[in-house]
Amino acid sequence: MKVRRFRTGEGRALLRPWAESDATPSVTDTLADLRRVAASDRARCLVAEIDRRVVGSVIATFDGWRGNIYRLAVHPEHRRRGVARALVAEAERAFARWGVRRITALVEKDHPWATGFWKAAGYDPDRRITRFIRNMNRDGAKVP
Ligand SMILES: CC(C)(COP(=O)(O)OP(=O)(O)OC[C@H]1O[C@@H](n2cnc3c(N)ncnc32)[C@H](O)[C@@H]1OP(=O)(O)O)[C@@H](O)C(=O)NCCC(=O)NCCS
Repeated sequence: MKVRRFRTGEGRALLRPWAESDATPSVTDTLADLRRVAASDRARCLVAEIDRRVVGSVIATFDGWRGNIYRLAVHPEHRRRGVARALVAEAERAFARWGVRRITALVEKDHPWATGFWKAAGYDPDRRITRFIRNMNRDGAKVP
């Protein structure tokens, strides 16, 4: 298994596994949004590859204040073999290079596979926090 950076042009190879991995869909699951994050010098869009097939992904970003992890997903056929661990380890190396002091991963409380993973990876739940979100279209208007 190899962890490497996502290459522009393989967006479809990522969007499909997200759907197959039961990752909760989000407004930014588009080719245009993927290209934009991949082009940012403060983002790492990483994929895990086995036999030349993309089987997992993670997006790590630094906004100048905190590090954030998005879209950790591993194809169901390749779980429990350390793929997510390897992706997060590579993301953490990028955070260390950027000088990040706190990393946040948004994790659905009712997904025990996800909370189980993050606890095993050494992350602590922050029970004080709830998330407020606003989804917008490209004109800045609120959408569901
Ligand atoms: C969560 C997810 C990314 C884990 O990927 P993975 O490659 O199977 O994880 P790893 O093999 O690296 O697991 C490392 C450790 O995490 C924990 N873990 C992983 N899956 C778990 C599960 N289903 N239940 C409880 N703990 C789990 C275990 O301690 C595991 O070590 P072990 O296999 O030696 O016991 C994967 O289940 C997935 O893609 N789920 C759907 C999408 C999702 O929910 N993503 C998380 C968004 S925050």
